[in-house]
Amino acid sequence: MIVAIDGPAGVGKSSIARMLAERSAFTYLNSGSFYRAYTYLHQQKGRDVTDLAGVLSTAKEVSLRLVDGRIHADGIDIEEKLRTREVDAVVAQVSAYPPLRSHVNEQLKAIARGEDMIVEGRDITTVVFPDAELKIYFDAKPEIRAERRFRQHPEGTTYEEVLAGVRARDEIDRNKAVGALKQAEDALYVDTSYLTMDEVCEKVLSAIFALKMG
Ligand code: DC
Repeated sequence: MIVAIDGPAGVGKSSIARMLAERSAFTYLNSGSFYRAYTYLHQQKGRDVTDLAGVLSTAKEVSLRLVDGRIHADGIDIEEKLRTREVDAVVAQVSAYPPLRSHVNEQLKAIARGEDMIVEGRDITTVVFPDAELKIYFDAKPEIRAERRFRQHPEGTTYEEVLAGVRARDEIDRNKAVGALKQAEDALYVDTSYLTMDEVCEKVLSAIFALKMG
């Protein structure tokens, strides 16, 4: 069974999806990690990330595997390398390249085939798994997402800068020519603005169990 989750950056998708996976015994798959991994691996080789065809070649040369929920590239755990400022700065542009998106989507489908998985990203409910048994769209106001992020990482920045960053990422995510963030018509819409992680998790778990009971 696939539980597909989409929503904007900073909405709490990853934390909630991880918590859901623990409580449901499903495997957690973060599709953003694939775009991050290919970006990181290309940078590692000292190559130019604005050469998107080059990033695709790098992606085709490497084998990504999910081991205990962590990304391994050719057998090496690179999970800790994926959320650096260097990767953050360019991953949105890299992820907007349609041929790379097709490549990532093939990997995601192969990994999830026949498994119980919670998969999160931007186009998971609309493009990658439009037939997922359960589709969810998490949302929260940009001000709230910025405030949460600023509280977690206040070092060297201001709330206003973080908010501007959140708005800029939303703009890129929503306006990509291929794989843009949008809500699937049949997705369960959950506004997380005023809910705790536990409350969100309970909502989704109820939906999973209702489906399992048939
Ligand atoms: O969720 P994240 O910040 O780790 O995602 C990294 C980047 O990849 C971000 O720019 C959004 C993009 N992304 C995407 O285009 N499609 C997905 N399914 C997941 C992430």
